[in-house]
Amino acid sequence: MHILKEIAELKAARNAVILAHNYTDSAIQDIADYVGDSLELSRKAAECNAPVIVFCGVRFMAETAKILSPQSIVLHPEPGAGCPMADMADPDEVAAYKKAHPDTLLVAYVNTTAATKREVDLCCTSGNAEKIISALPAGQKIMFLPDANLGNNVSGKLSRPMNFWHGCCPIHDRVTPSDIEKARAAHPSAPVIVHPECRPEVVALADAALSTGGMLKFVSDSKAAEFIIGTEIGILHRMRNENPGKKFYPLDPAPVCVDMKKITLEKVRDTLRDLEPQIELDADTIARAAKPIEKMLEMS
Ligand code: 13P
Ligand code: SF4
Repeated sequence: MHILKEIAELKAARNAVILAHNYTDSAIQDIADYVGDSLELSRKAAECNAPVIVFCGVRFMAETAKILSPQSIVLHPEPGAGCPMADMADPDEVAAYKKAHPDTLLVAYVNTTAATKREVDLCCTSGNAEKIISALPAGQKIMFLPDANLGNNVSGKLSRPMNFWHGCCPIHDRVTPSDIEKARAAHPSAPVIVHPECRPEVVALADAALSTGGMLKFVSDSKAAEFIIGTEIGILHRMRNENPGKKFYPLDPAPVCVDMKKITLEKVRDTLRDLEPQIELDADTIARAAKPIEKMLEMS
């Protein structure tokens, strides 16, 4: 049987919902019920009420779905699809920091493990970081973790001092100012949009720094005919599909998140057939990690 038919039949039999991040392979995006950025996928997970959620993305995203929808079976087709940035904020180190700085609010980018989310006060995504930080009282000490680039970009934009953890996304941190200049020279009339996980000196050269959902809105709202896209290339699939008259150029070298690409059609089929591997989190972790995420959803 063709794999797409197998997936469709298994999905119906399991009454499953497939959620996929904007960076997954185009074949995965095409079979998903919903494709989005981290914030949009958290909202979907919280409201979907499905008995089975297949989460196509990296592990922290699937964990967030389980935390927000603990009654659902959350399947993660490839347990080895992690996020190197999320692993840069070790839960014990974060707990020790909190103990040593009781007057500091710990704001965690959603790109953190469930074990680390247990230790923090509030979450944010790249889509709501500015809104969340600007809602905090002036003078409140903040430790922003794990992404020092996102933290610096938000802090600069809001003129709000913060402390930063020592983490970054290896894929976005690798983008250089000369990559942007090269792309601009090749396509001088195209606006440059980058992800705020890029370094501040890269963001300074761009026309906009947005979450992946924000980028999709920007390109569909814009009157420009072509765009330079400074993020993971998986997003070009939706951009091209949703904006057939416009042109999209990736950077050179094109940023690729190998972990996102570990989710394949075969693994989606297998996980639906076997109901494994599941995200399993203990009740205490779910209860504690849910607090900073729910606070974020209320504020955004
Ligand atoms: P978005 O929330 O913008 O989709 O970002 C998630 C991510 O992992 C970016 O590298
Ligand atoms: Fe993590 Fe970077 Fe991949 Fe996003 S692109 S999932 S931050 S490694």
